[in-house]
Order: sequence, then C-alpha cells, then structure tokens
Amino acid sequence: MIKIDPPLALLAELTHRCPLSCPYCSNPLEMDARAAELDTESWCRVLTEAKEIGALQVHFSGGEPTLRPDLVDLIEHADKIGLYCNLITAAVSLTEKRLDSLKNAGLAHVQISFQGTDTVIADRIAGYEGAFERKTKAAARVINAGLALTLNAVINRHNVEQLPNFFKMAALMKARRLEVAHVQYYGWALKNRAALLPSKTQVERTTQLVEEARRKYEGTMVIDYVVPDYYARRPKSCMNGWARRFFNITPAGKVLPCHAAETIPHLSFPTVHDGSLSDIWHNDPAFNAYRGTDWMPETCQKCDNREIDWGGCRCQAMALTGDAANMDPVCELSPFKDKVLEVARNDADGQAADFIYRVSPGFSEHNVSDSPDR
Ligand code: FES
Repeated sequence: MIKIDPPLALLAELTHRCPLSCPYCSNPLEMDARAAELDTESWCRVLTEAKEIGALQVHFSGGEPTLRPDLVDLIEHADKIGLYCNLITAAVSLTEKRLDSLKNAGLAHVQISFQGTDTVIADRIAGYEGAFERKTKAAARVINAGLALTLNAVINRHNVEQLPNFFKMAALMKARRLEVAHVQYYGWALKNRAALLPSKTQVERTTQLVEEARRKYEGTMVIDYVVPDYYARRPKSCMNGWARRFFNITPAGKVLPCHAAETIPHLSFPTVHDGSLSDIWHNDPAFNAYRGTDWMPETCQKCDNREIDWGGCRCQAMALTGDAANMDPVCELSPFKDKVLEVARNDADGQAADFIYRVSPGFSEHNVSDSPDR
C-alpha cells in the first residue's frame, strides 16, 4: 500500500496566453484557448479544495498570470483560506498600481524569470523587444513594495557565460533567492534542444560557479540549482517524485501530477469538473501510475537512491526512450545512457540551430505592442 502524503503546493496555470515567445516554453504543445479558461468561481473552489487536502502554497503561473483580470480576487481568496501566494511572472506588464493591488490582496512572493543579463541576449531569447528593461523595473517595484523576490535565471548555451552576472544582478536587485535553472528538454523545449543545450564543459563550469556563489552569498541569498541532467550520473528528483508533493492545474482545469505530464500519451488526466481534488489526489489512476516505488523497473527498485530521486523524470523517460515506465535514461545505469550522451554531444557541439519561438494565441513574435499594459 503506497503512503500518500498531502501535497505541499499547487501550480495554478491561470492562462496559456503570454506576451513572451521563449523557445523553451514549458506550456504543453497544445495550449488552452482563452475561452476554455476556468472562471473565477471555479478557481476559488479549486483553491479551497487544495487547502482542504493539505496544500500550503499556491503558485499562480501561466503563460502570464497577470493577464487574468481576476488575479486580485484569486489571491484574495487564496490568502483568506491560508494559502501562501506566489506569483510566477514574466513581469513585462507588472505596473506599480497592479503590484500594489496584488499585495493588498495577500500576495507574499514574486518570481520573475530573466533570459539574460543584458538587453541583447535577454530580449532575443524572450522574443520580446524591451523585455529586459521592463523586467528590471518590475523587480525594483517588487522590492519597493516590500515583497519577497526570486529571480529565475533560465540557463542555456546563449546565456550560460553570463552566470557570474546573474549572481551580481540578483544580489543588486536584493533578491532573496536565485534559481539557476537549466532548460529542461520536454515539450516545446525539446524542439529547440539543438539551439539551447550547453556543452558538458559549460554545465560543469556552471556547477562550479554555483557552488562558489553559494558560499559567497550564504546568509543573504539562497541559490537553487536545476541541472540539465543529460550529463549527470544520476537523474534529478523530478517534482520530488510523481504525485508526491505537487500538482498542476491547467487553464482549462485539467489536474496533472507535473506540468509536462500530458506528454505521456497513454495517461488520461481528470479535470476539476470530474470530481474533488481529494479524490483525484488519492485515487486517480494517472496520479498513482508512477507514485512511490512499486512501478519502478528492477534496477531502480534495488537502487539505494530510489527514495531520493524517485526514479527521476517520467516525462524525460517518455521523451527519450518512448516509454515513461523506463528508467530515466540520464541515469548511468540505464541502457539508454550512451544514446543520451551522443544526442547531447551532437546538439551541444554543433552550431546552434535557430530558435523556434513559441507564440501564444493573441500575440505575435517580437511584438511589444500586442502586450496589454495593465
Ligand atoms: Fe513530468 Fe519530470 S517533468 S515527471
């Protein structure tokens, strides 16, 4: 019998609409249309149910969650029922007035993604002219508003050499936390792997710089690190284990054990209209598919790391081996490891491919004017 703990956090993807066109977009290949998005009442019910099953935090995300006019209402409700509210935003439209209203509603924390440490690289990766400047101003507003700030540095071969500048920039901006997160290659990002994947040498250097920076900024800024584990000996503990600590709700109300779970084609996922979150969290077959250790291949079941990495990433196993129940192929014990390294070397050592930008409905590539400035 698998022991099912309460979830720690809910990732509430309020919309897939986004003014940026990042080539590593983590939204699913098929995005939800605006007309399909859950309404305010449904989101409030879902937040209440999430709290009732034990969730402590809600991360309002997207797409770009500030495009939802009811974000203030949702934060107000989440705060009232005792959920810690985090906003994950591209921040290009985060005005002082909007931020104040979100703070007054109960927002506690803001996470802003940065695609680089200068205008040229950051704007090019985001596919949005002026993004860097707007984000920098928004970060200052977050601090001035007295909110906690996390900077999310999305690392790839075009900005990996800027890592020392990311540390300085985050410290200057007074961020409490810097997340150095290498792009994860599923969904849309997989299409751009040959444009984005850094070399093994670059990743090793990143790891070394992160370790040095952690010592330097100890006590003032926390530095999280998410590696692209193609080059690692063992996989990362993706989502802290399938359906163990987190779950996701898509704009149209699908309930997922991880944001990329829909890349696993044989699983079907319930919606918030199909039953209570409690029932879904505890009993849904897709949530139980890779929960715990019973589902693991024999090598993983015998491995001392089985309750540390929880078998790695199911979506990565799906993307690289065609079967989500296989060992995560980045593990050195996987029969696919050599293939993974070969693929990585081919992509990272060749000339960088052009970006395939991700353009969400209602927006166009490299076009600032399409972004509503709320
Ligand atoms: Fe889905 Fe890792 S991204 S399990």
